[in-house]
Amino acid sequence: MSRRAPARRWLSGPLLLLLAACSASGQPEEPALPRPMLAPARPLALPSGLELPVELADAAAVGPRFERECAACHGLTGRGDGPRAPMLRPPPADLTDAARMRAIAPSWLHRSIVEGKGGMPSWGYQFDRRETWDLTFWAWSQALAPRPGDEARFNSHCAGCHDGAAVARLDRASRAAATFDEELAALSGGPHASLATVGAADREAALRWSWTHLYRPAPPPVGAGGP
Ligand code: HEC
Ligand code: HEC
Repeated sequence: MSRRAPARRWLSGPLLLLLAACSASGQPEEPALPRPMLAPARPLALPSGLELPVELADAAAVGPRFERECAACHGLTGRGDGPRAPMLRPPPADLTDAARMRAIAPSWLHRSIVEGKGGMPSWGYQFDRRETWDLTFWAWSQALAPRPGDEARFNSHCAGCHDGAAVARLDRASRAAATFDEELAALSGGPHASLATVGAADREAALRWSWTHLYRPAPPPVGAGGP
């Protein structure tokens, strides 16, 4: 695989050495970059070796970084219409396409960012783990961030059970490996049988809000539509 090749163009000096050291060991281990905010108490390993975040990701914090590092291809609002997009085959995906994004787990977006995908360079470990997850949720939230009114629906339909109690916690890192559509499907039956009378739009709205237990959404772009 030539997956690591593009990384060399983007990485330099010490990072490149670290990367080479990792490839040599055959393990996609993370180099020891400074990780000031990271103290994962219980990191979860996916089969791919990905570690999921255990603290709240912060999409709001990485808006400027996305603008600097990603917007040339992805466009300022993630629509895939940046100035370099016409040169890329396949083009950068439209991150605001909800139907598409609902079927992709954040953990897969994270993987694309770390390993690269198609015309996108591998960002390797240029960002620390925390920032990589922040960027992941920035990307994910372009289509799935909560909208006005979502919190109220969560409060009426979900908060009764999901009030932060030990059972039914919504801040579990393992959720990042699920897609929105999978979680939506899980809202009927089982512990959720009582939601049968709640309309589909309300369930979706409440579910959008429930992800704020895992990440802090960026403020909506100016002119964004309502519910
Ligand atoms: C040189 C252009 C370029 C830059 C810069 C770039 N990307 Fe990409 N990105 C792409 C392309 C092209 C794809 C689509 C690849 C494919 O579909 O095979 C992509 C795909 C993605 C995906 C996967 C989307 C999906 O639907 O699977 C994510 C997430 C992503 N980029 C995030 C980022 C982030 C975050 C940054 C900045 C740190 C970034 N990209 C910088 C070109 C770029
Ligand atoms: C009658 C109580 C009840 C109500 C009401 C309820 N839930 Fe749940 N929910 C549960 C229980 C119990 C679990 C399983 C928790 C566990 O496995 O520890 C769960 C699990 C979940 C999970 C999976 C969490 C994970 O860690 O993977 C999500 C997401 C979820 N609920 C969202 C919602 C949303 C959104 C609503 C409102 C539309 C809602 N729930 C309403 C009881 C409820």
